Amino acid sequence: MTRDLSRIGVAGLGTMGAGIVQLCVEAGFETVAFDTSQAAGDRAAERIGHFLKRKVEKGTLEAGADVAALERLSPTTELSALAGCDFVIEAVFEDLEIKRALFAALEDVVSADAILATNTSALSVTSVAAATASPQRVVGMHFFNPAPLMALVEVVRAEQSAVTAVETAVELARRLGRQPVVCADTPGFIVNRTLIPLLNDCVRILDETGVSAEDLDRALELGAGWPMGPARLLDLVGLDIHLHAAEALYGKLREARMAPPPRVVRMVDAGKLGRKTGEGFYRYDAAAE
Ligand code: CAA
Repeated sequence: MTRDLSRIGVAGLGTMGAGIVQLCVEAGFETVAFDTSQAAGDRAAERIGHFLKRKVEKGTLEAGADVAALERLSPTTELSALAGCDFVIEAVFEDLEIKRALFAALEDVVSADAILATNTSALSVTSVAAATASPQRVVGMHFFNPAPLMALVEVVRAEQSAVTAVETAVELARRLGRQPVVCADTPGFIVNRTLIPLLNDCVRILDETGVSAEDLDRALELGAGWPMGPARLLDLVGLDIHLHAAEALYGKLREARMAPPPRVVRMVDAGKLGRKTGEGFYRYDAAAE
């Protein structure tokens, strides 16, 4: 059994939130996009407009469908604007206390049967759900970066999640054109449990073998069929995001491979976070991003 969905809310309009909003408006949902920062909302709308226009130019979206999609977008800096949403996806910074506080506040805003999803990559969905008085309506919906291009959504069943909440999240993922996989609430779920230590290994290999980032990437692309090499991928994800996920997983699992390599920590300290700051393993031209 699933809940009817027509209006979706997205809370947090960074890279992931903007990508999720793009999927929602493209799929025909009225979408309320919330961020406390007006600038973040403006950036997200601009980014979505840019990518939708590119799709029209390339013929993967009908002419005019970009404008129609943008008309379904309602940006807001007021949490109360999420009141009429049937389903809210939270994509704020990966900090458990921030997420828990937001869920507690959201619960007072939305209707009693609205479903709430967290797009966490490494935090406990069960713990986020426990911040509410109605944890049965909380699930995890983990999208991958870039959300509009990556087909997978991990639908995470918290200890308290009701069947309706899980099934509705699966249905929503499908309507967004994604392929959902349902899993239990374990550290890193499926993909990050594998990918985080693998990327850590790649950074350690960079130091141990003395290869360049370009050669490391070439090796994994040509020798293992990766669509983009690990250095380029870390720059895309953001070194800070990776560091945070690695620390969270190491904290829970105490497996040495989960611990972030010192090079990643140094890069984050130096502000070399990847594409978003113009430098990570590679340098980026801001105008081209
Ligand atoms: N949002 C929306 N649309 C985008 C976009 C974005 N961020 N980035 C690119 N696009 C659009 C663009 O319009 C682009 O076309 P133009 O350049 O002509 O404008 C179009 O998509 C196609 O882009 P590409 O030609 O670059 O596409 P590609 O075929 O090279 O594939 C890719 C790109 C899908 C990102 C591919 O390289 C890939 O799969 N990389 C691996 C990504 C990955 O592993 N992500 C997971 C990260 S881990 C994670 O997210 C988990 C976590 O919790 C941290």
